[in-house]
Amino acid sequence: MSETTSVIDVCIAGTGSYVPERILTNAELAARVDTSDEWIVTRTGIRERRIAADGEFTSHMASKAAKRALEQAGLAPEDIELIIVATITPDTPTPATACYVQQQLGAVRAVAFDISAACSGFLYAMKISKRLISDGAFTNALIIGAEKLSTVTNWEDRSTCVLFGDGAGAAVLRRSEPGEGSIVATEMGTDGSLTGLLSIPGGGSACPITGSNINEHLHTLNMQGKEVFKVAVNRMREAAEKVIARAGWKPEDIACIIPHQANLRIIDAIADRLAVPNDRVFVNLDKYGNTSAAAVAIALDEANRTGAFKRGDHIVLVVFGAGLTWAAAAVRW
Ligand code: UT7
Repeated sequence: MSETTSVIDVCIAGTGSYVPERILTNAELAARVDTSDEWIVTRTGIRERRIAADGEFTSHMASKAAKRALEQAGLAPEDIELIIVATITPDTPTPATACYVQQQLGAVRAVAFDISAACSGFLYAMKISKRLISDGAFTNALIIGAEKLSTVTNWEDRSTCVLFGDGAGAAVLRRSEPGEGSIVATEMGTDGSLTGLLSIPGGGSACPITGSNINEHLHTLNMQGKEVFKVAVNRMREAAEKVIARAGWKPEDIACIIPHQANLRIIDAIADRLAVPNDRVFVNLDKYGNTSAAAVAIALDEANRTGAFKRGDHIVLVVFGAGLTWAAAAVRW
């Protein structure tokens, strides 16, 4: 599913992020399961990740990231008309985490709901809100990717527990004025035949959690990593190529690629296939691991705040996750 032009241009007016204080290092994990810092760094690029405190929920992290994005955008919570939270670790199955965020921010005018598209959720939210703004339904939106993956991680499974972390990233989208940036092209896709490659099997209507299946870890993330890896590289490359072509850009026009932060080898493979040099690809998974929907949002904020691109630059965001789902966006900053 794609789009190129809209009647009203939409820009990213501000970004923000938040990660919990607690750092969990590879060495600490190696003391718990049969792994090593060397294996984790070589196979994934991850050195440490953040773990939320017991009383710190997905909505709390989301609201902290959102406040920073609002501040940068120069908007007050009451100005916000739409809040979309992308998450697979909502505070509660219902109501939506976006409703808690609305309350915590005091964004009293905002319509608020969640979407579930795993690691692709932030860019799904970007496309949905861009369309709703360009169609005139709203003048602005707060989109957030937030996860407390530590609550759905099997801490006894070395093949997954080394990968994930907690955190949140946010962006404020609004109608752009002449001369401002624009979300130029977006792409998203899904292959539901591959649901089994990456899932949390329990906790829904198909497999409600019971005392016995908790012991089988059915409420935690389950992944066939090798298979996911191959599809991720191909789909992310294709999605990025599509938005770059629709934007009319060439690889040398791109100031920064901001990919989903799951595995450095996947990121390197995509940069290679897109012919974009590694120094123009933003990476922070060494510090945070894979934070699912939050990953690309945190990376966007860090890239923005550290000057990885400037006004007028061309940037490409590209993501991949459970579903399987994928998405990309070409943004003129
Ligand atoms: O965010 C959503 C999208 N997710 C992704 O994109 C993740 C995609 N997949 C990956 O990033 C990689 O497949 C992993 C990092 C998950 C795994 O890397 P891999 O190179 O595909 O390793 P593997 O699963 O093929 O395992 C290789 C070996 C196995 O041992 P044997 O069978 O060769 O003896 C595993 O048992 O590494 C072993 N292994 C470990 N060893 C030490 C698996 N996990 C660990 C570990 N420490 N943590």
